[in-house]
Amino acid sequence: MSYIEVRHNFKKYQTGDTEVLANNDVSFSVEKGELAIILGASGAGKSTILNILGGMDTNTSGDVIIDGQNIAKYNKRQLTTYRRNDIGFVFQFYNLIQNLTAKENVELASEIVKDALDPVQTLIDVGLQKRINNFPAELSGGEQQRVAIARAIAKNPKILLCDEPTGALDYETGKSVLQIIANMSREKGATVIIVTHNSTIAPIADRVIHFHDGQVTQIEQNPNPEAIANVKW
Ligand SMILES: Nc1ncnc2c1ncn2[C@@H]1O[C@H](COP(=O)(O)OP(=O)(O)O)[C@@H](O)[C@H]1O
Ligand SMILES: [Mg+2]
Repeated sequence: MSYIEVRHNFKKYQTGDTEVLANNDVSFSVEKGELAIILGASGAGKSTILNILGGMDTNTSGDVIIDGQNIAKYNKRQLTTYRRNDIGFVFQFYNLIQNLTAKENVELASEIVKDALDPVQTLIDVGLQKRINNFPAELSGGEQQRVAIARAIAKNPKILLCDEPTGALDYETGKSVLQIIANMSREKGATVIIVTHNSTIAPIADRVIHFHDGQVTQIEQNPNPEAIANVKW
């Protein structure tokens, strides 16, 4: 069995009279320690599956098996524990707490888990040694995203989920942010899933899961992933 197995996942949203099948029979797997990319156009259902994998949303039907446990069957309390202990999540628009400094934002996450990394060291690792006591409003977009990544990785999560992590960043900044995220898989052995609409970054992944209209249309495995320095977009 794979480390992550999504089987026949459905997610239906009902808004008034309209029904949207955001995930329409989605199945795929990801191995432990892999760097996987979920690729697809806007509206394809990528954030939907990422939020379900992160225990932030529940599905309509189907199995979501993480390390042998079917989290689709978890109750709220179990999902909270799962989210807290196992998951690091990076959002497109950072979601930092504005009245806390970079260090305090990271501490907020690290304080709630047992095997947390040191918040200051984590900020140093993402290149923010000079920004540790700054507030989000004093930081550039790329710096804010690096705080958000530090917040996610300071929890030392088993699984790092990133929703369009470079979507709001310029090219060079995006590249360095991507490198930090990829290193979590390549150097720390975390299982990393990146959601993106940008097909040019797909070659860096071990596995690319193509989404279209709520469905998986193709799964590619890449035995020789490209170095981030060699991809251009
Ligand atoms: N909370 C929601 N309520 C209603 N529809 C939603 C909700 N979230 C997502 N959707 C719809 O589900 C589909 C997939 O959305 P999403 O997973 O966010 O796509 P992606 O991340 O690939 O852009 C879209 O049609 C979107 O409008
Ligand atoms: Mg999305």
